[in-house]
Amino acid sequence: MQELVIEGGCRLQGELTIQGSKNGVLPVLAATILCAGECRVENCPRLRDVDASIAILRHLGCCTRWEGGALLVDTTHMDKNEVPDALMREMRSSVIFLGAILARQGEAALSYPGGCELGPRPIDMHLAALRALGAEIEERGGTLRCRARVLTATEIVLPLPSVGATENAILAACGAEGTTAIYNAAREPEIAELQDFLNAMGAQVCGAGGSIVTVTGKRALHGGTHRVIGDRIAAATYLCAAAACGGEVRLSGVDCRALSPVTAALYEAGCAVESGVEDVFLRSGGRLRAIHPVRTAPYPGFPTDAQPAMMAALLRSAGSTVFVENIFENRYRHAGELSRMGADIRVAGRVAVVSGVPSLHGASVKCTDLRGGAALVLAGLQAEGTTRVSQLEHIDRGYESMERELALLGARIGRREETQWQERGTIEDADGEGTPSS
Ligand code: EPZ
Repeated sequence: MQELVIEGGCRLQGELTIQGSKNGVLPVLAATILCAGECRVENCPRLRDVDASIAILRHLGCCTRWEGGALLVDTTHMDKNEVPDALMREMRSSVIFLGAILARQGEAALSYPGGCELGPRPIDMHLAALRALGAEIEERGGTLRCRARVLTATEIVLPLPSVGATENAILAACGAEGTTAIYNAAREPEIAELQDFLNAMGAQVCGAGGSIVTVTGKRALHGGTHRVIGDRIAAATYLCAAAACGGEVRLSGVDCRALSPVTAALYEAGCAVESGVEDVFLRSGGRLRAIHPVRTAPYPGFPTDAQPAMMAALLRSAGSTVFVENIFENRYRHAGELSRMGADIRVAGRVAVVSGVPSLHGASVKCTDLRGGAALVLAGLQAEGTTRVSQLEHIDRGYESMERELALLGARIGRREETQWQERGTIEDADGEGTPSS
């Protein structure tokens, strides 16, 4: 198993080009199924979740290959319509393939995507949308079997602006006769990205970014080329890192409008922030200030995925900041691990209160989930001494070599095989020099 070893206390300085968006590319990869042809997905990030999507596409009979930073997907010979349990367990958001397989094959089967570290993660809205389009769905023994001899356009009203349900509805509606309207659609930038890619394939999707999306289905689709947008959550993560450590960073390749709730919060905390169209500059002088309550909300509200990083940025701030997590039930699991580093965080249900402490100390901590793991790294960058972060499979789902990016900004961080405790009670570093166990 690997771990990140971080020596805290460095200011961060420099420039980064932000990776392609994890939450943007996953529905795009599912959408390639809608046409029998080859698609070219440029700026495709190298992530564990992308690897999981590639495994599903190959299982379904598609061919994939990398060409530099582009992933080419040829779905001509797709010959299956079910996603096995092992692949579903690798990535629960694989449920996004359901609508696309149904639209292409008329039937689809996948094992029920269980919950995850963030909570139960129900998919009732996904299934209601597919049923509204005419799918018959049987849930038996942990497997979902969907059949739709014909998909017919309809009106879909989502109880919540669910990102995944919106994406599944759009993908399935591409296979429905007529024009489907999706009301209370999610407005995240990744929805507009999916619309752009589908329209590049010859689809007719309108309204993404707003609450009403329309899809005129049954059009002859063809392969398309798409450049994945910059990952706004990865950008938020690195901005929070610089804000916490002090320094000056410039991030490029990301739409700054999608970052505004995060940059506004960092500005309130005392950072200087200058946003361009596709780049953002942040300068942080020293100790941050506590800010008004951070309430996560569907886009364009404060993104739930940036909550852990913002929390990490404020661990040493002057004063206390209230967080209210309105999207997921269990998204403070990183608080316990942060407390091992001296953080003062009190959690009560969906509310967490972060009270700034004068300093954090290094510790051995374990990632609990993707964004919580990133928060542990941000805390290690600030801590006095050495921090070891393990269970990196979480971080690697959504960040392209986080340690490489942070090292480019001057952080003292490296990845190595997880140290083994020695009988002498010391931590044996990979280079063999034992140090007293902490
Ligand atoms: C997407 O998840 C993202 N994942 C999440 O990012 C992100 O946190 C989330 O949207 C919110 O922005 C991907 O895009 C792959 P939702 P998704 O459906 O689609 C409830 C990350 O760290 N709900 O918008 O699963 C649900 O339980 C990940 O990158 C239902 O009740 O999120 C949640 O409380 C984490 N029934 C709320 O809606 C449903 O059928 C919002 O979930 C669907 C969702």
